[in-house]
Amino acid sequence: MSSKSALKRVSALALVGAGSLARAGPCDIYASGGTPCVAAHSTTRALYDDYTGALYQVLRGSDSSTTDISPLSSGVADADSQDSFCKGTTCLISIIYDQSGSGNHLTQAPPGGAASGPEANGYDYLASAIGAPVTLNGQKAYGVFSSPFTGYRNNDVNGTATGDDPEGMYAVFDGTHYNTGCCFDYGNAETNSRDTGNGHMEAIYFGTGDGSGHGTGSGNGPWIMADLENGLFSGYDHINNDADPTITSRFVTAIVKGEPNQWAIRGGDATTGDLSTYYSGVRPDGGYSPMIKEGAIILGIGGDNSDSAQGTFYEGVMTTGYPSDDTESKVQANIVAAGYATTSLTSGPELTVGDTITLRVTTSCCSTRYIAHTDDVVNTQVVTSSSDDTLQKQASWTVQTGLGNDACFSFESVDTPGSFIRHSNYELHVNANDNSKGFSEDATFCPQSGLNGQGNSFRSWSYPTRYWRHFNAIGYIASNSGPHSFDAAASFNDDVSFVVGSGFDS
Ligand SMILES: *[C@@H]1O[C@H](CO)[C@@H](O)[C@H](O)[C@H]1NC(C)=O
Repeated sequence: MSSKSALKRVSALALVGAGSLARAGPCDIYASGGTPCVAAHSTTRALYDDYTGALYQVLRGSDSSTTDISPLSSGVADADSQDSFCKGTTCLISIIYDQSGSGNHLTQAPPGGAASGPEANGYDYLASAIGAPVTLNGQKAYGVFSSPFTGYRNNDVNGTATGDDPEGMYAVFDGTHYNTGCCFDYGNAETNSRDTGNGHMEAIYFGTGDGSGHGTGSGNGPWIMADLENGLFSGYDHINNDADPTITSRFVTAIVKGEPNQWAIRGGDATTGDLSTYYSGVRPDGGYSPMIKEGAIILGIGGDNSDSAQGTFYEGVMTTGYPSDDTESKVQANIVAAGYATTSLTSGPELTVGDTITLRVTTSCCSTRYIAHTDDVVNTQVVTSSSDDTLQKQASWTVQTGLGNDACFSFESVDTPGSFIRHSNYELHVNANDNSKGFSEDATFCPQSGLNGQGNSFRSWSYPTRYWRHFNAIGYIASNSGPHSFDAAASFNDDVSFVVGSGFDS
């Protein structure tokens, strides 16, 4: 144990002794258990009682400047400082700092073996800074909402487990944000962003991936599993582990830990109760014992940069040494005490479910145009109160509860009931609701105050870096600069701001 950890223990004890409110963090607890953190990441709170440094860095769209977000005296991130820095523009999370003192910060994931990210330089996308708002004991903070093609990584690590070294990990995720894509992971991976073989990873996985035939948990998922490379494992190889349950809680604590020929999956509701052990036993056959861990750290992607998964990360750590169940119980109690809860995903002029609305463009070129559709293509058209009934209906929308998240909204076509505005390949279309998870998510948008100060901007729930935008009179979900022509930074704020009305101007 480092002298730094020892000092932390002393200061935590001193707080208890003084009778003041001790708020030993998860990493103080791991240190007390003899398995200190070697990486500690959170955009929502300090993970040590005395950590006052930066939690994360945000990158602002308007001028590409950055600022660090630090904890308030409560330990919770100063979300207000982010909100003021990002006012009237977009922000991305550009660095998630390592609080452990080991320098294991997470930054934009570079190209890998499985996939080159969609950014021009082959990197994955950075996450929106506002995709995952929550409160911790009533104080607002933001998690990391990772859409497909979003990823963070550190290949130049310091002190994380390698080879068959013991390690522990936990992460707090959104139990309702997942998919089957590979792979929403947090933990230990290859240092060259390539698949270097079985046993070269040991990361927490969350989602409904089928584990490439290595078995899943019970029910339909999502499950907490382990990504050990070339397989997601719910327990012993090739066997569905009925003890690894489908997760149903909004906030989930997920644990994977491993030591020579022994590993475990544990989990629980991050807002109440203790952890359960879903698997504890020997390693799978086929090259997983001894492990050949490389020690890089990934978030939101697979070890080879497979980047089609989605999920939300709030906090997580990696330790040196195999933490005891008792230590993890204390960490879980600390997470529960942090008081994670949901909060509003919207802002700006309020929408009311059941209302019929119109959506007027605010860009000065085009302010007589409204969001409309021609067949399945969403576009903008000049519409007035004297336009014919057909055109007026093509440009009228019924506000519905968000199909994919009831804190946001979906927009049903007035002339084609049962069809909704949804994004597909970043284009906006009007398609019939097929009731699939994918459609529901693609048809869910979160209005916020218009980025140009007028009306609302409509953020994609599933790709929160992207907003409804008109570009050459066609509708897209666009980011504030990016690889597509419709991501152009010029005129972005105007092109993504729309005035909600109840009819058409004359
Ligand atoms: C590596 O980690 C140790 C222990 O936390 C720390 O003292 C040291 O400064 C770190 N090295 C770098 C380069 O960050």
